[in-house]
Amino acid sequence: MEDITKVIIPAAGQGTRFLPFTKAIPKEMLPLIEKPALQRIIEEGIQSEIRNYIIITARGKNSIEDHFDADPILESFLKEHQKESLVSCIDKIIKLAEFTYVRQQEPLGLGHAVWLARHCIQKEYFGIMLPDDIIISKQPALDQLIRIARQERASVIAVQEVPMDCVSSYGIISVKKQLTPHLFQVGSVVEKPSQKNAPSNLAIIGRYVLSNKIFSSLEQMKNYSVGELQLTDGIGHMIQNNEKVFAYKIQGVRYDVGTPIGWIKAVISLALQHPQYQASIKRYISELGTIDSALYNQSKNIEHSL
Ligand code: G1P
Repeated sequence: MEDITKVIIPAAGQGTRFLPFTKAIPKEMLPLIEKPALQRIIEEGIQSEIRNYIIITARGKNSIEDHFDADPILESFLKEHQKESLVSCIDKIIKLAEFTYVRQQEPLGLGHAVWLARHCIQKEYFGIMLPDDIIISKQPALDQLIRIARQERASVIAVQEVPMDCVSSYGIISVKKQLTPHLFQVGSVVEKPSQKNAPSNLAIIGRYVLSNKIFSSLEQMKNYSVGELQLTDGIGHMIQNNEKVFAYKIQGVRYDVGTPIGWIKAVISLALQHPQYQASIKRYISELGTIDSALYNQSKNIEHSL
């Protein structure tokens, strides 16, 4: 299999689960400590040796393009004050990565967003990373998938086990064959099934390595889909057309930062691993003791909180 060098990042979603924050700011720009969520996704891609990023954006998402662009005024200001290190991680991305932006004009679904990038992908395998899914792992999640795609010479999607009462929030796979404790051949996929109709509790999480054949499958599904075109439907169509698709249980912890609760958990978890903040956050959490101790308390109001 040829090298996998391109990733599509659908970032056109409206972020309704995070309103009102997302009214004027793209949800992909939510801060995870000092970096926007999307920057963490690109860093996972770079660690997985991906150089080309095709980002599907929409109206109101210009700050994404600005973030991954040079800013001479800011740079000379920081240089003057010997503070270049504050943006050095972005400089690194700008030097290593190529960005292409494609606009989705109407919210017609994840499958439609991916399909819009068809002109950017040749006869090759490529990655898809959903920026809502932040995965903290030793080996980058996308890199785990790329390794399996090379080994099996086929498409691979990331999955994790979820409680049965959560299956209706995900694409769910049915297992045709289990190859190892973590690797499955996929029999079929169903988008957000009811608990009753779910073929397993293996949920698709936002990393994929797919064959370019997905585009003709999406094209065909597009002709008879009403409303949103799901990526899951395209993958199902590929399987029906005898394309092998595997599912790999990613080793790592995944946070859905598209919701306030997932974002809060991701921030806490990242802070606990951050060299600069971990000690004070650990201390803060251990001092909390009870929920009430985090609330306003007159006797504490002169303590500073660092
Ligand atoms: C999308 C996919 C779904 C997948 C999920 C993972 O759904 O359609 O198959 O399980 O991402 O985060 P969304 O969460 O965008 O509704």
